[in-house]
Amino acid sequence: MSELPRGASRVIELGGGTGVFTQALLDHGIAPVDLLVLELNEELHQHLQRHFPQVQVACADARDLAELALARGFGPESPADAVISGLGLLSMPKATQQAILGAAFDCMQPQGRFVQFTYGPANPVAKEVIEALDLNARRGSFTWWNVPPATVYVYSRRVSRAIAPRSMR
Ligand SMILES: C[S@@+](CC[C@H](N)C(=O)[O-])C[C@H]1O[C@@H](n2cnc3c(N)ncnc32)[C@H](O)[C@@H]1O
Repeated sequence: MSELPRGASRVIELGGGTGVFTQALLDHGIAPVDLLVLELNEELHQHLQRHFPQVQVACADARDLAELALARGFGPESPADAVISGLGLLSMPKATQQAILGAAFDCMQPQGRFVQFTYGPANPVAKEVIEALDLNARRGSFTWWNVPPATVYVYSRRVSRAIAPRSMR
C-alpha cells in the first residue's frame, strides 16, 4: 500500500472481491471503521462481511459511489484520503469509467488519490476520461503480494485545477 497518500486514514475500496486488498489495508494500519468496501457480487459481499465484521462492506455498484459514500459517512465533512480499486476498469465503457472516477474524486479530499490495480501493462483509464476530469496519471509500484502480480496506476487531481480560481481573481 505504498501508493496511499502519507498519513492516509480513511479509505474506500471498490470491488473488494475475496478481500486481499481489504486485508492489506488493515495490515497497513487503516482502522476498520475508516474503511468502506463496495462489492457488487452478493456471494463475495457476504464473504467479505464474514471475514471483516468491523469493516463497512456494502453490496453495491461502484457507479453508485457518490450516494453511498454520503450515506456511509464519507461526505464532505469527512472525505476519504484514497480510493483503492480492483475493478476491471479497462473493459468498462468510457462513460462508466468517468462516472466512477468522478464520483471517487468527489468524495475524496483535494490531495486524494485513486489507486487502480490492473493486470496489464497499459493505463486502464481512457485518455479522454483523464482529460475530462483534469487528472494526472502515473504508473506506480508493482505489487508483489497480489496473485497474479498487478501493476498499479495512481490518479490525482492536477494542481492547476486547485490554483486556477485564485490566479483569475
Ligand atoms: C479483480 S476482482 C478484485 C480482486 C480483489 N482485490 C480480491 O482480493 O479478490 C474485481 C471485483 O470487482 C467486483 N465488481 C465488478 N464490477 C463492480 C462494480 N461495478 N461495483 C462494485 N464491484 C464490482 C467483482 O465482483 C470482483 O469481485
